[in-house]
Amino acid sequence: MYIYIDGKKISAKDGESILEVANRNEIYIPTLCHHEALDDVGACRVCMVEITHKDWGGWRNLVTACLYPVEEGLVISTSSEAVRRSRGTTLDLLMARCPTSDVIRWMAEENGEISVRYEQIDDGSKCIMCSLCVRACERMGCNAIGTVGRGHDKKIAPPFFENPENCIGCGACAAICPTGHIEVNDTRTTREIWDKKFNFVACEGCGEPVLTEEYRDYAIANRDLPADYYTTCSACKKKKLASHFDKVGS
Ligand code: FES
Repeated sequence: MYIYIDGKKISAKDGESILEVANRNEIYIPTLCHHEALDDVGACRVCMVEITHKDWGGWRNLVTACLYPVEEGLVISTSSEAVRRSRGTTLDLLMARCPTSDVIRWMAEENGEISVRYEQIDDGSKCIMCSLCVRACERMGCNAIGTVGRGHDKKIAPPFFENPENCIGCGACAAICPTGHIEVNDTRTTREIWDKKFNFVACEGCGEPVLTEEYRDYAIANRDLPADYYTTCSACKKKKLASHFDKVGS
């Protein structure tokens, strides 16, 4: 099928979202709660685009690009006046919630002028409730964190706000967080996250920290790879592989 994004005719596949087609064609649509490895939930609303169709009699609508599936002849605008206004309001609300977040400020600047229409809550939190961390933790199979409370008081936290029993210290939640809200403190030998302390496994080759002991044990028990895969850093794995090929070649 063919769709049109910003006047460009583009081929698309049934079942793809507008965002997938745009990304594949290097057309920029801002996102905060999207990650290609996870299912979309449409939480942040910054990926809003305007759609219409020649059969719709001039009717237009604003939809989230990450969730809206493509259809033959769909006409999409990623930066119309309506898109900029909608995105501006969303970013304004996000800035009110997280005034110290650089990524939100940068996106607001990219979208046009920064408007500050809502009262800002400067409590140091950068959490925009996009739930990427919760979805990543769930994908890891740990379910160590979740949403707690309702409305303004809604937070991402471990059960009962205690250090989470299921956390293996993989750091996926912190790595995927778009605003850098989740604190992870690493030293050469330890990691601290969600108020829980972990010891790192040192690489058998060079001694560099590879992953936490809990993550190693979890991966050995649940993944189909040899145990030494988790006790060697990527640089040493490459060296090992290169010397293997050298031996085979000689
Ligand atoms: S990326 Fe689409 S709603 Fe967040």
